[in-house]
Amino acid sequence: MCGIVGAIAQRDVAQILIEGLRRLEYRGYDSAGLAVVSEPGRLNRIRRLGKVQSLSDAILAPLPGGLGIAHTRWATHGEPSERNAHPHESSGNIAVVHNGIIENYAELKEELAAEGYQFTSDTDTEVIAHLVHRERQSQDNLLNAVRAIIPRLRGAYGTVIIDAEQPETMVVARSGSPLVIGVGIGENFVASDSLALLPVTRQFIYLEEGDIAQISRSDIYIEDASGNQVDRPAQESTASYDAGNKGEYRHFMLKEIYDQPQAVRNALESRLADDHVLEQAFGTQASEIFAEVKHVQIVACGTSYHSAMVARYWLESLAGISCSVEIASEYRYRKPVVLPGSLLVTISQSGETADTLAALRMARHLGYLATLAICNVGASSLVRESDLAFMTRAGVEIGVASTKAFTTQLVGLAILVLSLGQHNNINPLLLAEMVGALKTLPDELEQTLTLAADIEKLAEEFADKHHTLFLGRGDQYPIAMEGALKLKEISYIHAEAYAAGELKHGPLALIDDDMPIVVIAPNNELLEKLKSNVEEVRARGGILYVFADKDAQFESDESMRVINLPHTHPWMAPVVYTLPLQLLSYYVAIIKGTDVDQPRNLAKSVTVE
Ligand code: G6P
Repeated sequence: MCGIVGAIAQRDVAQILIEGLRRLEYRGYDSAGLAVVSEPGRLNRIRRLGKVQSLSDAILAPLPGGLGIAHTRWATHGEPSERNAHPHESSGNIAVVHNGIIENYAELKEELAAEGYQFTSDTDTEVIAHLVHRERQSQDNLLNAVRAIIPRLRGAYGTVIIDAEQPETMVVARSGSPLVIGVGIGENFVASDSLALLPVTRQFIYLEEGDIAQISRSDIYIEDASGNQVDRPAQESTASYDAGNKGEYRHFMLKEIYDQPQAVRNALESRLADDHVLEQAFGTQASEIFAEVKHVQIVACGTSYHSAMVARYWLESLAGISCSVEIASEYRYRKPVVLPGSLLVTISQSGETADTLAALRMARHLGYLATLAICNVGASSLVRESDLAFMTRAGVEIGVASTKAFTTQLVGLAILVLSLGQHNNINPLLLAEMVGALKTLPDELEQTLTLAADIEKLAEEFADKHHTLFLGRGDQYPIAMEGALKLKEISYIHAEAYAAGELKHGPLALIDDDMPIVVIAPNNELLEKLKSNVEEVRARGGILYVFADKDAQFESDESMRVINLPHTHPWMAPVVYTLPLQLLSYYVAIIKGTDVDQPRNLAKSVTVE
């Protein structure tokens, strides 16, 4: 995931830029760069492949200059390399950093090349630099030049542009990729995430979609998408960010549960247009490959396997593409038959899980169309060895029991499903509806977290139990599996998940008044079927704990406790209903006094077989 930092100050800004990049590094990157204006007309650019530390090491002497921009890149257009790293320049004066994807870059590139502009990278971003440079020849300042080129850009961008000939300002524009202005005293900053700027300011102005701003040391001018000047008040941040610090939270797991609305926002950033998804998020060749996909095989372990199982329901019902899902440790030792046009998808938080990696390596010789990794760690082996990759941007996950890695995987899979649907005649109205459902998801997750106190109370009823059953149907069956896994992992209570329709084929025999049964009941097409399953349990004296949509009309009584969740689009319900189950496990573990963040016998990343 790319990160942007910019600064304009009386002091030299290079070290502020480097520190900002370091704080964004966890989001995934393959290269980094900065450009500083050391004197009017003189742009100093340094870029390096690899970590921010390599960039920092490359600055051998103090780099003077009070205006600068910097970037950590996660490659989409063009391989990770120094020449593709940002900032991109035009004619030695204009420098640009950009997050997002310019969809019509090929057409713009052709136009600019025909006019003699030389391209020195394979990125989509470079067109912005040349467009601004061309416009700057006829416009009297940088702001006007940026205003003039914005209507030419299609796709998503958060961009910061400087002009060495005009070192008293930088210009920023936001559409689909967030940007925040950090307000200092006699100096100002900009970044893709406020945490990059916490060492220099606590005052932030969050730009809105379509905003363009001109920032100088003492002034911030903002105009909205219609070109009207707007006053966006600064807000004081109380955040304390440190990836290795759990802040106000008692455990990393709890912090990571609460990180989810923001993690999902990050996962969605620059990947959605108004009514479709930007499939370039999977890589430059994604479009070409996706057009050929007839079947998807997903391979993963643990929690990542559960997200794969949800995706199977989605792929077949929404994209009309058949899908098989398998645990990596099984798949790697089979002799699978690969159908023509099959895409192999691996899912992994760490990208280093031995079985998943071995499955990928084994499968490479089986005739798959291509391989795609959905992963949280940009520099991981899984990502490096796959043809395509989608970074989930969950941020560093420290708790062994995976939480935000899972929900952001679901987001990545949802975007994959819609991308494949776009090549397989998905109804445009349905597509737009699903994009809308993704956009409202972070707010729904925030509302769901307000149920924590109710769930904490509920946990008391589980703490002395030895077994628990989790029930779901359809795409909630894998969520029941994930809920059971969480409870097992951190509270050591034996938990099993069943597809509710399967109850009568065995597990009903287990039910008595000492067996809590957790039911996941969003308001979807299987609700009536699920209600019948609930009655089967009730008739045998089981105690039910039902997580339901208000409209599902479950009422609490002596044999049933109901927790109502906010309304959500049924498609996104698997993501939303995961959160109360994570909280339930967490609070049960707290009562039992187990080691929540490092449960016995388990490891975060299983790099051995
Ligand atoms: C371990 C972790 C799980 C994780 C699984 C797969 O078992 O404890 O939380 O789901 O590995 O890891 P991956 O990094 O491949 O998602």
